[in-house]
Amino acid sequence: SGDLRIGIAGLGTVGGGVAKLLRDQADLLAARCGRTIRVTAVAARDKAKDRGVDLSACRWHDDARALAGDPDVDVVVELIGGSDGVARELIEAAIAAGKPVVTANKALLALHGTVLAKAAETAGVPLAYEAAVAGGIPVIKALREGLAANRVKRVHGILNGTCNYILTTMRETGREFADVLADAQKLGYAEADPSFDVDGIDAAHKLAILSSVAFGRELDFAGIHVEGIRHVSALDLAFAEQLGYRIKLLGIAGVTDHGIEQRVHPCMVPLAAPIAHVEGVFNAVFVEAEPVGNVLLTGRGAGEGPTASAVVADILDIARGHHAPVLGLPPSRLAPGETAPMGRH
Ligand code: HSE
Repeated sequence: SGDLRIGIAGLGTVGGGVAKLLRDQADLLAARCGRTIRVTAVAARDKAKDRGVDLSACRWHDDARALAGDPDVDVVVELIGGSDGVARELIEAAIAAGKPVVTANKALLALHGTVLAKAAETAGVPLAYEAAVAGGIPVIKALREGLAANRVKRVHGILNGTCNYILTTMRETGREFADVLADAQKLGYAEADPSFDVDGIDAAHKLAILSSVAFGRELDFAGIHVEGIRHVSALDLAFAEQLGYRIKLLGIAGVTDHGIEQRVHPCMVPLAAPIAHVEGVFNAVFVEAEPVGNVLLTGRGAGEGPTASAVVADILDIARGHHAPVLGLPPSRLAPGETAPMGRH
């Protein structure tokens, strides 16, 4: 045991939020895992920027990849983002150094998650990513733990807070898409490149991860049909409402006769469905499984507090010594000769 020393790469909205949450809940977290969790090192571009949390006692790295080799870092928290480059190299280096990794990087996992998961499982190192899907909703833990005895038939949900905020605001105010997008960007929910949000790519990244965990399959981001919300007008939303529907950008993954079907596109959701009333930055995940039946989870899908909540839950798991399998892959899917610490808890 002893203190658990955290290195945070990236101090944007989420990174700053994680540092603050670890500070503000320090006593509660220590009581829950029996250890003190401390941020000992950080990597970020602007050291002078005020992030509302004092990190002056930490070691500062200009190159985030140095966190993997920092002797005062036990756990690497990757919050840089980006589907390749520094984020990927940092995670690979941390796994190679035997250091557990926590990441919120859905784009990286959607594209390279299988390779990273195999590296982590082969090395016996935790790679946790609760924050990558649906922000503050603990959907990865729900599928992997609470619903572990079920066979999942279908998962669908609202997986992008920016799009849901835009659609909600357009419907409520009659304003048009471009105008409302600017508001969403100001709120800090949008991706650095907002086309990832509005063209459905971010939702597809999350759906790929969700479906891998739900169905125990390899990630298949390229196999997802993706369509965004650029072409939805305020008039479409008003007409849909008159007909008894609300337009939502949904991610849908289900078992069919031809394997797993995955798609992201705007849908007409009947007003009688609870998910039609999940508005603004809220996300929702609806799971249909046997024998549990239907389970609906909702909560904030983006922003500082919700995302930090999920990141710190993963840190707490590591502090407690919990070690979940990385993706939903059974050991037989690993290459011959590799071993996976599946189910080690
Ligand atoms: N841009 C994302 C969203 C952030 O709006 O949902 C959370 O992943």
